[in-house]
Amino acid sequence: MSRKSIPLQGRSHADVLEEMGGFRADDADYKAGRTWSLVYYTGEEHSAFLKKAHNTYFSENGLNPMAFKSLKRMETEVVQMAAGMLNGGDDAVGTMTSGGTESLLMAVKAARDRARALRPWIRRPNMVLPRTIHVAVDKAAHYFGVKARYVDIGPDTRADVEAMGKAIDRNTILLAASAPQYPYVTIDPIEELGQIALKKKIPFHVDACFGGFMLPWLEKLGHPLPLWDFRVPGVTSISADLHKYGYASKGASVVIYRDMSYLKHQFFISTDWPGGIYASPSMAGTRAGGPIAAAWATMMAMGESGYLELAAQALDTTKRLRAGIEAIPQLRLMGEFHMTAVTWAAAGDVSVYAIADLMAERGWGCDRQQNPASIHLTVNANNAASVDAYLADLAECAAHVQAHPELADEGEAAMYGMMAKVPIRGLVRHSIGKVMEAMYSPSGEVPDLSKLGEGEDDGVVMKLISKYGDQAMSVLDRLDGLRPKGRS
Ligand SMILES: Cc1ncc(COP(=O)(O)O)c(C=O)c1O
Repeated sequence: MSRKSIPLQGRSHADVLEEMGGFRADDADYKAGRTWSLVYYTGEEHSAFLKKAHNTYFSENGLNPMAFKSLKRMETEVVQMAAGMLNGGDDAVGTMTSGGTESLLMAVKAARDRARALRPWIRRPNMVLPRTIHVAVDKAAHYFGVKARYVDIGPDTRADVEAMGKAIDRNTILLAASAPQYPYVTIDPIEELGQIALKKKIPFHVDACFGGFMLPWLEKLGHPLPLWDFRVPGVTSISADLHKYGYASKGASVVIYRDMSYLKHQFFISTDWPGGIYASPSMAGTRAGGPIAAAWATMMAMGESGYLELAAQALDTTKRLRAGIEAIPQLRLMGEFHMTAVTWAAAGDVSVYAIADLMAERGWGCDRQQNPASIHLTVNANNAASVDAYLADLAECAAHVQAHPELADEGEAAMYGMMAKVPIRGLVRHSIGKVMEAMYSPSGEVPDLSKLGEGEDDGVVMKLISKYGDQAMSVLDRLDGLRPKGRS
């Protein structure tokens, strides 16, 4: 039961911290390398150092660089070090943000406002995107009123250059692609897209939130990669997350532009507020000092040598993971081998989601993807110790699901399978909305996904699956076959 009022009497620090520590009992066990997502853990020594750096500036506020010159100095250095890593050139500029999503929001906002200044006749701006670009760009479309024009990827899981070129029209204010994209971890053909951006004279954003702090080291280690950073003519901005493979504390990313002519459109300036003249570089008002300080400290403490060492370990672990998955007859790898992450799908008729359920029962984190059903694993150096156990469990679970296909219609597998297949996406949206409402209700409880549909307020889709089980699934399977494929 969650607490609903502030305690009348304050409690001792020790008491509060003890209770808080206990909340962790049901959390993902990232330290043992079983999550494959969300946390980029590099050991206790680095964590302790990060906490110290973070705490040194935890009260300071980056909103006012005149008051806290320390934070401004660190932000400038973080941005410039990152720009150097991305081959940004002498004119490269940018800002820190709270994460990948904010960096992408800012790249879209800057492109929209640049178009407003330079091409004011555009009434309905759009941006041309591969279907695999991170969903935060869709959020940006939603927030900033820019239409997201999605183009299907090619069979090689990369952006389809020709189709993207064709999708550009006179209202296109931004072209974007990824290095690499999240779903299949493939780098899009950035050089070819850069040529189109130059020809059409539109800004081109590369989302390297995931790969920005990994690919430069992989390249140095001799891992074969296409070009994707500011060395590519036509690329005008890049986002890269410090709180992922930058190994900084959460709440840290950079968005970097080729020069100030792009960045200046990111800023917000108000001159008439009674509270004073107000200028802000990004979404946040108050800007937490801790993540800026921790990002700076991490880059200094890691150095290229530290990043290279961790990249080499993660690369080696990825190779072992890929080889192990390739050897499991029920599974196949998806995407190109560009990065230290892996996506696997079913090789035949076996249910990926049922395998994921069994793996979750054994304590493995599973990021379930759709269209096609697949599982995404982010690999870190600390997965070196868990990769063999993962592969052994995966082989067993895959064989078990093949022998028991009925598992696809049970538990969370049924729910995920159904969600992916419902052709009327508004129904899915409605059901997910209900889950969100439950989570953010006064009790704030996280729902048990395998029991969805049993509650009175649960969404339509959940109710269907809980009432009609595999019958509903087979109807949806047939409807799924009718769903139009192609540009959305
Ligand atoms: C390619 C890519 N872009 C953007 C993001 C969004 O980052 P964040 O979760 O920090 O907002 C992610 C997150 O996984 C990502 O993989």
